Amino acid sequence: MSFTWRSSFDTGIEIIDLQHRRIADYINQLEGAIGSQDRYFVGLVLDELVDYTLSHLAFEEALQEEARYSMAVPHKAVHDQFARRVEKYRQRHDAGEDVGAQVHGMLYSWLVHHIQRDDMAYVPEVKAALAARLMDRREASWMDRMLGRFFPVAKLA
Ligand SMILES: [Fe+2]
Ligand SMILES: [Fe+2]
Repeated sequence: MSFTWRSSFDTGIEIIDLQHRRIADYINQLEGAIGSQDRYFVGLVLDELVDYTLSHLAFEEALQEEARYSMAVPHKAVHDQFARRVEKYRQRHDAGEDVGAQVHGMLYSWLVHHIQRDDMAYVPEVKAALAARLMDRREASWMDRMLGRFFPVAKLA
């Protein structure tokens, strides 16, 4: 099932929405790779998808930390649990198992569920903190530094 973006997935924090949409694109690429029945291609897309998603999670955690989000610790625990699940799938793929369809289904439902429940919950606090910071000229480059820390320039566009 292809991932079709819905406006109800938008958090209203542009940089986060951009990253979530990119993950959705990767999930669709994975579906295409599975359809091609090319194990090597599936592995390649899976690696890129996982790497990008882990960067997003780390970015989100840093953002929450900066904003002093009250639920940052449990949110990170959810991310960590997800990262462990994904890593297991990657290991099973590397061991020769055919996990493409399973991992696609898991990523799809996890992303929809996590964005709509957990990510939406941090939006009011993080948005308020971001607005306060961006009004301060000394903090104007803060977002650029954060992005540079987690994403290579080539992956941002
Ligand atoms: Fe999250
Ligand atoms: Fe997220």
